[in-house]
Amino acid sequence: MLLFLTALPVLAQGPHDAVADLSIGKRVFESQCALCHGADGSGGRGPSLRKAKLKNAPDDEALRKAISEGLPPEMPGAWQLSVREVASVAGYVRSLGKIAVEEVPGDSVRGKALFTERGCSGCHIVNGQGNGAGPELSAIGARRSAAHLRESIVRPSATVPDDFLLVEITDGGGHTIKGVKANEDLFTIQIALPGGRYQSFSKSTIKKLTRLTGQSTMPAFDKLPANDLDNLVAYLASLRGAE
Ligand code: HEC
Ligand code: HEC
Repeated sequence: MLLFLTALPVLAQGPHDAVADLSIGKRVFESQCALCHGADGSGGRGPSLRKAKLKNAPDDEALRKAISEGLPPEMPGAWQLSVREVASVAGYVRSLGKIAVEEVPGDSVRGKALFTERGCSGCHIVNGQGNGAGPELSAIGARRSAAHLRESIVRPSATVPDDFLLVEITDGGGHTIKGVKANEDLFTIQIALPGGRYQSFSKSTIKKLTRLTGQSTMPAFDKLPANDLDNLVAYLASLRGAE
């Protein structure tokens, strides 16, 4: 009986409470979403939301669910928002979608060839091809804005995702190895090296372990001709995973 009573206030939240108010939506967006999706919704760490169609939010119900429950592992749920705030921020996201689509200059076919020529596939898997010391990029275009992709290529250290922690290990023989931390348990630590190799270290033999936060194992491609960069970004932006 008690359970039933405590459930009542939730049931009492009728459709009226879910009416979207765009000024509330804008305020919520700027305080909770802009950090990842950009103040104007054009994207950053999260994808641009200035699109008529959103892959993970095909209808309004899915959109509200994505907002309140999040999209694991990268987008946290906004559990703290009320039903009305969720509806309002969803309405605001839809209003952003009525603004022009993100234009990406460049030729994605040329970009695909460059991806191999420039050695990107030595560290990134795309649709099952390549090696994996860096993150898989098969759906990167659906998860990041073009501006973030560009930045990731030119200045990788500015955009290191949380799960790619670079560490430097000095082993018992005094050799120093840099790599991405892949796995760790009580006794060992595994490091992913460029080219898709892994190396395991027993913790008891490690002399020094340094976490290199804010650094990247990815070389900065800051001397690419502007054309090549445009083409690479166009290619990455076109990678949307299996539909
Ligand atoms: C910590 C960063 C972060 C925050 C904060 C965040 N998002 Fe996201 N969001 C992401 C990422 C990353 C994705 C892509 C997830 C994926 O595809 O796996 C995403 C995806 C989405 C999508 C789906 C886009 C598509 O093309 O399908 C919507 C809609 C969305 N976010 C809305 C919001 C709203 C509204 C808020 C604020 C209430 C918010 N997000 C807060 C990072 C974030
Ligand atoms: C030596 C290995 C290596 C090479 C070569 C390399 N990358 Fe990376 N890349 C990484 C690692 C590791 C990360 C993870 C984040 C970081 O450390 O910056 C990364 C991150 C990225 C990201 C961001 C992914 C995200 O989730 O935001 C993009 C995009 C990217 N690389 C594209 C490229 C392109 C394009 C090339 C070729 C021009 C390239 N990479 C070459 C190792 C590499």
